[in-house]
Amino acid sequence: MPLVMYTPRDILSDVKAYCEQTNTVGSLANISAILMQAIPDLNWVGFYFDDGSKLRLGPFQGKPACTEIAYERGVCGAAFSNNTSMLVNDVHKFSDHIACDADSNAEIVVPLRQHNQVVGVLDIDSPKKNRFSQADLQLFEEVSVIMSENLNLSNYWFHRDV
Ligand code: SME
Repeated sequence: MPLVMYTPRDILSDVKAYCEQTNTVGSLANISAILMQAIPDLNWVGFYFDDGSKLRLGPFQGKPACTEIAYERGVCGAAFSNNTSMLVNDVHKFSDHIACDADSNAEIVVPLRQHNQVVGVLDIDSPKKNRFSQADLQLFEEVSVIMSENLNLSNYWFHRDV
């Protein structure tokens, strides 16, 4: 039995609390950290945001990952371009999967929206095939909604020196 058990409600409450920090980078870093810490069997949790021509890596937890993803590439590109969540039980059966971490076997990608426009994605990887349930997907979609309502995610990269 783990020493600390997080319920979905605990996780959402922590995400909301981390949104209340004064800098977006710090909030995103802490949100990726709490998801990684609270949810078992994950190996990568992080964010990609639209920079105007592609998706660009934001704060994350896990091994170093690809820094740029074309809009139409990978699970992230599919979720972003179609503005829809993706639950992939076995990434090796997803023909265009981008393998940033060879340990990843299952993946959820959820769009991040602001003012009804998709601005980036939350990407979660697991080393276990079939790791994710519809309840997990719903939790990550609720995380996305809390972030949309409490963070300034529009033009995340545009005002930075890229
Ligand atoms: N697997 C993703 C790429 C990002 S990494 O998993 C961190 C994809 O296929 O889009």
